[in-house]
Amino acid sequence: MTLTSRTVQIAAFGGPEQLHLVELPVGEPGPGEVRIRHHAVGLNFIDVYQRTGLYPNALPLSLGMEGAGVIEAVGEGVAHLAVGDRAAYASNPPGSYCERRVMPAKCVVKLPDAISFDEGAAMMLKGLTVQYLLRRTQPQGGLKAGDFVLFHAAAGGVGLIACQWARAMGLQLIGTAGSDEKCALASEMGASHTINYRTEDFVARVKEITGGVGVKAVYDSVGADTFMKSLDCLQPFGLIATYGNASGKVPPLDIGVLAAKGSLYVSRPTLFTHIATRERTQEMADDLFGMVTSGMVKIRIDQRYPLAEVAQAHRDLEARNTTGCSILTL
Ligand SMILES: NC(=O)c1ccc[n+]([C@@H]2O[C@H](COP(=O)([O-])OP(=O)(O)OC[C@H]3O[C@@H](n4cnc5c(N)ncnc54)[C@H](OP(=O)(O)O)[C@@H]3O)[C@@H](O)[C@H]2O)c1
Repeated sequence: MTLTSRTVQIAAFGGPEQLHLVELPVGEPGPGEVRIRHHAVGLNFIDVYQRTGLYPNALPLSLGMEGAGVIEAVGEGVAHLAVGDRAAYASNPPGSYCERRVMPAKCVVKLPDAISFDEGAAMMLKGLTVQYLLRRTQPQGGLKAGDFVLFHAAAGGVGLIACQWARAMGLQLIGTAGSDEKCALASEMGASHTINYRTEDFVARVKEITGGVGVKAVYDSVGADTFMKSLDCLQPFGLIATYGNASGKVPPLDIGVLAAKGSLYVSRPTLFTHIATRERTQEMADDLFGMVTSGMVKIRIDQRYPLAEVAQAHRDLEARNTTGCSILTL
């Protein structure tokens, strides 16, 4: 009997109306692959970029890059996973919005028993992103306890993990968010200061909070609306990690601006460079699991949608109606 899987696909780039549930056959894993049966699937803003075609992929496209479940079958050469293991991942290629799939094993890791499938599905892509941002995307000289950093969209999925992780590192994270309620949530989760960037001038507020000095690093996933102003929040030699485009792509940069604003550094990182090898993925995942199982980072799942309601999940994410993580349930 051929196994099948209900899977969310798009046949054309566009709005949430392009998301369709189809039934696809699922085969056996080849060398270096596993078949996983999902218990839950994570929703990420990158799924929106892929749906609209901002990040283009071949069509038809199965969406989704994060999930958790049980290993059903293991291909040749896969030594770190066995049938029956609880597992979770953030991984290319997309295709996690489904019941089961065959996928490369190198980004799939065992999920500790203390972490639920829902948490595993919610936290892998977002948590590994915070891991590489705060631990490895640092300004010259590094970051130490007491240092100020600015983190945009601090009440979102990545944002609330970052607030808690920064607090654990002793950093003073200044978090921006789009409402007073979201700011209160970011504070509760570890931001030392918050700014409602819909009603306040965040450059002026950052200057005020840091006594005119500015921050050592800005982590900016909002993109077009914030990028240039973010540069004005940095102290000399500061670093901006521009790692997302929730408000649109950052326009081309005249690099002379970096000299004029104080010998600044710009990085445009992506998680997928960091998790390019199995060893590195496991090392980062171990760090993330340690933060979660110790209780220093709690994974807030504020929205849950059945797989069939994925279009509503996309609408809510794009409309800035969500906080923390969102998952699709199966
Ligand atoms: N490069 C990487 O490795 C990497 C990895 C993971 C995530 N990311 C990026 O990190 C960001 C956060 O991802 P996430 O999945 O956790 O999403 P999220 O933060 O839960 O949702 C995005 C948030 O961005 C803010 N935003 C500001 N302007 C917006 C606009 N015009 N439209 C929509 N949202 C806007 C909203 O918060 P407010 O209402 O508070 O402004 C919104 O809730 C995304 O940009 C994502 O692409 C990058």
